[in-house]
Amino acid sequence: MTAKLQALLGWVDARYPLSKMWKEHLSEYYAPKNFNFWYYFGSLALMVLVLQIVTGIFLTMNYKPDATLAFASVEGIMRDVNWGNLIRYMHSTGASAFFIVVYLHMYRGLMYGSFKKPRELIWILGVFIYVALMAEAFMGYLLPWGQMSYWGAQVIVNLFGAVPYIGNDLAVWIRGDFVVSDATLNRFFAFHVIAVPLILLVLVVMHIIALHEVGSNNPDGVEIKKKKGADGKPLDGIPFHPYYTVKDIVGVVVFLIGFCVIVFFAPEGGGIFLEGDNFIPADPLKTPEHIKPLWYFTPFYAILRAIPPMFSSQFPGVIAMGAAIVVLFFLPWIDRHAVKSIRYREPLYTMALMLFIITFVMLAWLGMQPALPHLSELAFRFSELYFAFFGILAIYSQVRNKNIYMFWLVALTVLIVAMDIPRYVGANADKQALIRYSIFIPLFYLAATLWLPMVTKWNQSKTVPDRVTT
Ligand code: HEM
Repeated sequence: MTAKLQALLGWVDARYPLSKMWKEHLSEYYAPKNFNFWYYFGSLALMVLVLQIVTGIFLTMNYKPDATLAFASVEGIMRDVNWGNLIRYMHSTGASAFFIVVYLHMYRGLMYGSFKKPRELIWILGVFIYVALMAEAFMGYLLPWGQMSYWGAQVIVNLFGAVPYIGNDLAVWIRGDFVVSDATLNRFFAFHVIAVPLILLVLVVMHIIALHEVGSNNPDGVEIKKKKGADGKPLDGIPFHPYYTVKDIVGVVVFLIGFCVIVFFAPEGGGIFLEGDNFIPADPLKTPEHIKPLWYFTPFYAILRAIPPMFSSQFPGVIAMGAAIVVLFFLPWIDRHAVKSIRYREPLYTMALMLFIITFVMLAWLGMQPALPHLSELAFRFSELYFAFFGILAIYSQVRNKNIYMFWLVALTVLIVAMDIPRYVGANADKQALIRYSIFIPLFYLAATLWLPMVTKWNQSKTVPDRVTT
């Protein structure tokens, strides 16, 4: 560094902790030396966040948040604004990319037990980020004022109407009108462009501060701070900069190549990233044949639709959908297993996690399909499996004896059957047959997760090494 630059840095450092922060968070932040592929997604999420903010700023320069102008202004961006179609597609495909990256990032947390002590707050802040991201994506989707924007918002805001007593007033308050209208578009624009991005940024900063307070987990789930050398530095740690800054740049380049290929050649992702119906202007008098949200919401949408109404109220479905997200906050206390990483955990956890991923993907697929009877029944069963993952994890993640497994096997079987009785009574013969056959799905799941630990050693974990493996 030249003497002049050094002097400038000294001047800044005397007034702002620039070098101190650089050292604390990068050049002297020790990260485990065994990070693998799954550790790319945190930095990728950061990158996509910046991408969304930058492309969003350019879109805002040409977008008109007015129900009579919004659709045409987006068409104008696509056809008349220089590079407008690229910026629009980067933003719309970027939203899906964001969710892909965040889902993989969360999956890494589940694999390596990164939500466990002392990282509970990193995880909880992460779940808040996830919720904020869903709100951001939901409100952004209304802005092009296409058919799916309009009717998607109508369906989701109407859900608030299912809340007992205050529901209708609540839905009117959210919309600012009796139906989705210009008032709704204006407030969603305000939230999408400034309020939620600010919340997201604050949450992401808190997420990283919390991470740097306790240090990163790693694929072995070994706490590197426990083994320090004579110089006080973790024996299994390496400075984040330059080692991981360089590694993360490789991830960013590879990701951007894939992202560009999609943005250039298939920005709509075959109707998955942008739906065909959204290229038709919103028409409050004409409901699209098949209303469904974008793919990243469909697992929760499937749960919502799968739970039968009670006293003609959709409230139970709304509660189940909310619970499917809320349960994530409690994961650090649901899973009490002492071993963090899947590498050393009981094989039962690997099996349950794989089944959970299959469940999530199935729910995502079912949420995209029309609500035909056999698909709705499947969605109900996979919703049961979604919650069973967490319920049963609470049981086998602590040392239990055979009697306890037997108790839960019987109790949960009774619960599954009891939940089917009101659905069975009064159903037509076809539906009853569907219920009878599909009940084997949750029963097999219970048998696999509760009976196996009684008769095999699938509930035994391996010894965790002292130091990280390479
Ligand atoms: C905008 C979204 C997000 C951004 C920018 C972000 C950023 C980051 C970064 C940069 C790291 C450190 C690098 C790494 O471990 O990969 C990290 C770690 C972590 N994040 Fe996120 N994150 C986001 C969302 C989430 C969500 C939704 C969750 C979970 C619900 C989550 C849970 C975690 C956990 C548990 C760690 C620690 C991982 C470990 O040490 O093994 N994050 N995050």
